[in-house]
Amino acid sequence: MSEQRRISVRGDSVERPRKPWTPTIQSLLRHLRRTGQPVPEPLGYDDEHEFVGLVVGDAGDAAWQHQLQTAGVRSAGALLRRIHDAGVTWRRPVDAVWSVPAGQDEVICHGDPQPANFAWTNGRAVGLFDWDAARPGSRLEDVAYALLWLVPVGVEKAELERRGFGSMPDRRARAEAFLDGYGWRDSINVVEVALARHRQAIDEVVVLGRQGHQPHADWIAAGWPERWRSGLARMRSLSDGFDPVIPAR
Ligand SMILES: Nc1ncnc2c1ncn2[C@@H]1O[C@H](COP(=O)(O)OP(=O)(O)OP(=O)(O)O)[C@@H](O)[C@H]1O
Ligand SMILES: [Mg+2]
Repeated sequence: MSEQRRISVRGDSVERPRKPWTPTIQSLLRHLRRTGQPVPEPLGYDDEHEFVGLVVGDAGDAAWQHQLQTAGVRSAGALLRRIHDAGVTWRRPVDAVWSVPAGQDEVICHGDPQPANFAWTNGRAVGLFDWDAARPGSRLEDVAYALLWLVPVGVEKAELERRGFGSMPDRRARAEAFLDGYGWRDSINVVEVALARHRQAIDEVVVLGRQGHQPHADWIAAGWPERWRSGLARMRSLSDGFDPVIPAR
C-alpha cells in the first residue's frame, strides 16, 4: 500500500496530503476567495502536506440534515452557480496540473459537489471545500454530479434512511429546486445525466488508482469499480418512480 489518505482538522485549519495538483488548486482557491466565494483559504504547502482554512458550517456527516428540505437543495444550486461563474475569470497557470484528464473549458468544476463537501448553516449551503477533484469542465459535469447526490438518483431505502429521509422524497421537486437555484435553462434528463456522471466518476477513480493515489488504489484492489459499474442498472431501476425529464425554461 502506498500513500494513505490523511486529512486532519486542527483548529481553524485543515491539513491534507500534498498532491501534484495542489499548487494549481491553491491558485484557484486564492482567486475564488478574492471574488468573495466561500471556499477554503489556501494556506500553502510543503513536500507532504497542504494547508487550507476551515470553512465555517456543518460539514461531512453533519451536512446531511441540512439538505432534507428543497430550500437547502436550491441553495446548493445557487452556490455552485456563483462559484462556477467566479472561476471563469481565473487566469490559470500555464503549467496547471489536474487530478483527472481535463478539457479546455472556461468553467472550473469542483468535481465532487456532494452534500458532505458543502458547509451548511440553518439548512442553507454556505461553503464548498474538498477541491482535490477540481478540473476545467462543462457546467453539466458538476450539475449532474450534484443532482446524483441531492435528488438523489439511484439510492436504496437503507441509504435514504441513513441520510435522514423518512420516506422517498419528491425527487422531481428536488431536481427542479437545484436547477432553479443554479439558473439552469436547458432541458435535462436528470437520471441520464446523473448516471453518466457517475460512470465518469468511476472511470476517474480508476485513473487515479492506477497512478497510485489513495484511497483510489485501495478501492481498485478491493474491486469497487467493477461493483459500482455493475450497480448502474440497479440505480436506473430505482429511478423508475419519477419523471426525470425537466423541460427547458
Ligand atoms: N476546508 C474545510 N472546511 C470545513 N471542513 C472541512 C474542510 N476540509 C475538511 N473538512 C472536514 O473534514 C472531512 C474530510 O475532508 P474532505 O471532505 O476534504 O476529505 P474526503 O476525502 O472527502 O474525506 P471523507 O471521505 O472522510 O469525507 C469533511 O467531511 C469535513 O467534515
Ligand atoms: Mg469530502
